[in-house]
Parts: sequence; structure tokens; C-alpha cells
Amino acid sequence: MPRIFSGIQPSGELHIGNYLGAVKNWVVLQHEIESFICIVDLHAITLEYEPDALRRRTREMAVSLLAAGIDPTRATLFVQSRVPEHTELAWIFNTVTPLGELERQTQFKEKSARQESVNAGILNYPVLQAADISLYRADTVPVGEDQLQHLELSREIVRRWNNRFGEFFPEPRARLTPTRRIMGLDGQTKMSKSLGNTIGLMEERDAIWAKLRPAMTDPARVRRTDPGNPEICNIFHLHKAFSSPETVRHVDLQCRTAGWGCIECKQVLLDSMDRELAPIRTRGVELAGHPERVDQALGDGAQTAQRIASSTMTTVRERMGLT
Ligand code: AMP
Ligand code: TRP
Repeated sequence: MPRIFSGIQPSGELHIGNYLGAVKNWVVLQHEIESFICIVDLHAITLEYEPDALRRRTREMAVSLLAAGIDPTRATLFVQSRVPEHTELAWIFNTVTPLGELERQTQFKEKSARQESVNAGILNYPVLQAADISLYRADTVPVGEDQLQHLELSREIVRRWNNRFGEFFPEPRARLTPTRRIMGLDGQTKMSKSLGNTIGLMEERDAIWAKLRPAMTDPARVRRTDPGNPEICNIFHLHKAFSSPETVRHVDLQCRTAGWGCIECKQVLLDSMDRELAPIRTRGVELAGHPERVDQALGDGAQTAQRIASSTMTTVRERMGLT
């Protein structure tokens, strides 16, 4: 039976890169496949953080995910640290993970380059990720493009464990969206919480406009009358994510013929974004006023997750002689 697992770190606000790359897919797939959606606080503590901020962001992430359309009666939504088996299986997977593969991970190299002292958690981060997925024996992992290398390593870890202790875990495969890599507003780097180039899913229309207006477009469009190439413009790519196919065709033509200036193009994008995001914002505001609903969803989710995690670990311990 196919099963989905995916995770998101509560290290900042949910942004439109997360939404388009992963969360939107979770919302659709929860109706088709049994889904586990996890707020991965144990991953978030590998970088410097404040305990109070983590607590607040974990809740805010739950609110945002519910507002974005995760339905707790369809998907199991829970917080990773509430199910201690994640760390148990991660330790076990550490013993079958080649150190060289961990050191080769692009995200490890990037994160450790930014730090003066590097903790072992940053290195072992993908091992915990493999454990997250495997605890639920999930085979399908809807994520953005930046997670492909981690998933390749998850498959390797699972293969090694299965070879040593007998076939048990499925090899997890990524499921990508057409918007698998959203660029930041500078148009140069991936949209990312740590780079401060994001648009939050819950941001008000005015705040979004303040970010869109100065955002990078095709540098060839210096004057209003200079024609542009939409394919190299990040604003056009956001149109493809938020606007209707007719609008996208129209925008493409207006850009190539200099029919519109970039500001008009951005105004139309703002309307398209607002159409999709306003209802999410409204649900978010309402949910923030009902913390008991969020607690209920996370409590039920943790219970469901715990049941499956504990049954997986019974088999793992038996096979490994851990009695
Ligand atoms: P994170 O915020 O790193 O926990 O990522 C949560 C999910 O969002 C993962 O599946 C990422 O691959 C995805 N994601 C993050 N940033 C982007 C982006 N700029 N474009 C597409 N997907 C993204
Ligand atoms: N590493 C992922 C990210 O930063 C988050 C994550 C943790 C995850 N565990 C997971 C994603 C398991 C998919 C499956 O985006």
C-alpha cells in the first residue's frame, strides 16, 4: 500500500517556495494516498535557535499548514519530537550510513561553510530524515528539488539496512511538482528562510506588493519600451505558478512585445497571488484564534503516528537482536 511522508522545519514562516514546491502537493495527495506530514523540530535544532522561538514557530507552522489545506481528518499532521522513535531509528540508521556519503551532501557543505563550529547533528541530518520516512515505511516523498540528494541517500541507507537485516523498508522516491524550485525575489538564489528573500504564505497584500515591486525582472528591460524574454524572468515563473493559462499566455506576449511594463506585469501577478492566498490568510487568522483546534489536530496526529512508529520499531528491534 503506498504511503506518503514529508516534513518541514519550523525554522521560520511557511513561504511560497515551500508552498509551491511541496505543501500544495501534500494538500492534493492527502485525498489520494495515506499521508504523514511532520513538523520536524528535531531537524530545526541542528542550527542555532531560541527554545521559545522554536515553540512559537512550531505552532505557527501547524496553523499555516492547516490554513493551506492540510486536513487532519485525511492526513496525519504531527510534531516530530512527540514521537521519540524518530531518534531511535536515526541512531540505528547511523550504524549503516557511510560517513563519506554524509560529507558529500551539498546541504551539509553549505551549512557547515556558514558556521564556525560544526555540530554532528548537521552532518547526521539526512540520517534522521531517512528515519522519519522509514518509520512509517513510506515510499513516496513529495518535496522540492533541493531534497533530491537527501532522498538518494535515504534509499542507500534503506538498501543497506534491508541487505543486512532482511527486506522490510521500501526505498522512498521523491514526488516533485512542476514548481520544484522557486527562486527568491532577487531572482538569483533559491527562495529560502535563511536568505531572507521570501514571500510568506500569510503575508498581507500590501506587504507582498512591497516585495514584488522592486523584485528582479529581465535585466534587458531597462526602458518601458524594451522588449523582454519572459523565460529568464522570475516574475513570469511566478505567473506560471499563480495565474491562469490564459493570463500566462497574455503575460508572455505583453513582455515580448513591450506591451506592458514590468510594473503592470507585477500588478497582474499580485492579483493572481491574492486570489489564491487570501482564503489561506483568512483561515490562518481564524485558526490562530482557536488554539484548541490546533492542539487537537497535533495531539490526534501524534497518537496515530506513535502507533505505527512503535509497531515498526518492534520489528526493527527483533531483526537486529535488540531485545
Ligand atoms: P524546509 O523549509 O527546508 O523545511 O523545506 C520544506 C519543503 O519545501 C521541502 O520539501 C523543500 O524541498 C521545499 N522547498 C523549500 N524551498 C523551496 C523552493 N525555493 N522552491 C521549491 N521548494 C522548496
Ligand atoms: N530536510 C527537509 C527540508 O529541509 C525536511 C525533512 C525532514 C523531510 N525529514 C523529512 C522531508 C522527511 C521529507 C521527508 O526540507
